[in-house]
Amino acid sequence: MRRAATVEAPANIAFIKYWGATDLERAVPVNPSISMTLARCVSRTTVTCLGAGEADVVEIVADDGSTMPAGGAFRSRIVAHLERLRAESAEACGFEVRTRNSFPAAAGMASSASGFAALTIATMRALGHDPGVAELSRLARLSGSGSAARSVLGGYVEWPTAGSEELHAQQIAAAEHWTLCDVVALVQTGPKKVSSLDGHRRAATSPHYARRQELLPQRLQRVREAIEGRDLQLLGPVLEEDAIELHLIAMSSQPAIFYWAPATLRVLERLRQLRDEGVSAWATMDAGANVHAICGPEAEEAVAAALAAVEGVEAVVRDRVGPGPRFLDDSSAADGGAS
Ligand code: PMV
Repeated sequence: MRRAATVEAPANIAFIKYWGATDLERAVPVNPSISMTLARCVSRTTVTCLGAGEADVVEIVADDGSTMPAGGAFRSRIVAHLERLRAESAEACGFEVRTRNSFPAAAGMASSASGFAALTIATMRALGHDPGVAELSRLARLSGSGSAARSVLGGYVEWPTAGSEELHAQQIAAAEHWTLCDVVALVQTGPKKVSSLDGHRRAATSPHYARRQELLPQRLQRVREAIEGRDLQLLGPVLEEDAIELHLIAMSSQPAIFYWAPATLRVLERLRQLRDEGVSAWATMDAGANVHAICGPEAEEAVAAALAAVEGVEAVVRDRVGPGPRFLDDSSAADGGAS
C-alpha cells in the first residue's frame, strides 16, 4: 500500500543564534538558541512510501506545478536524511519526495530549516509513526540543519532547553501570545558563498567566540523575559546585539567569512534612523547579507516602505510569527507543533 503525507513547515528567525557545534553532522549546538517561527515562508513537502529497498526519488515542484528531479548537494542532503529516518524508524522502504518553497529558493532566505522540518514530519507521518513533537524536533536536527529542530514548533521556540539531554526544541510561547513581524530586506538573492555549516565549523577559531559564550546566559534570560512580557524595547537591543556578534565572529574566524553586502550596512543605518524617528524596529541577520527587521504590526508598513527605498534592496518580504507546521492531508495541526 502506498502511504503518503503532505506537510507545510515554516522557516524561523532566531533572536539568539545557534552558531558553533560540538558535533556538526548531528547538529549538537554549543549554545541554546531562541527563535520565532514564521507564518508565510514555508516549505511544502509530500512524502510517499515506496516498496522495500526501492531507490529514493526527489523532485522539486515549480510554481506552475511542474516537477524536475533534484540533483547535486541538495538531493544528497535529502537522501542522507531519509536514510537516517529509515534507520531511526527501523523501516526499509524507499521514498518519493516532492518539495516546494513558498519563497523563491534563489531569494537568499534560509530554506533548510523549513525544508528539513517538513521532510521529517511528512516522512514519519507517511510511515504511520506518531513520535510526538519533541522527537520530531530531535529527528529534524539530525539532518545537520540545527535550525530545523526549531521549525517543527510554532510561536516562540527555545532549543535546547536547559537541562534537556535530548536536545530537542520546546515552545516557550504560542504565536497568539505576541504578534511580531519580520520585514526582510533582500539585498543578495544568489546562493551564499560560505554555508552556515562552514560558519559553525570555523566559529571557535574567532577570539570573540569564547566571550560570546560568557555573555549568552544573561542575553538568553533577557530574551525569555522580553517574550514573556511582550517587551520589544527589551528584546530589540538584545537580538540586534547577538546578530552583530555572530557576524563579528564570522568576520574574525580563520579563514574569515564576510556575509554582509554594502546594502546590509545601509539597511542597518536606516533602521537606526527609523528608531530615532520613533519607529521601533530591530535588525537580525542569519548567515547571509539579508536583514530581518523585527517590529510590531503597527510599524510593519512604515518599516517595509522605508527598507524598500534603501539603495541595493532588491525586494522586501513581509512575514510574521506563525502557528507552526500543518498537515495538508487533514486538519489536525495544532498550535505548538505538528504532533
Ligand atoms: O541550521 P543551520 O545549520 O543552517 O544554522 C543556522 C545558523 C543561523 O541561521 C545563522 C542561526 C540560527 O540559529 O538560525
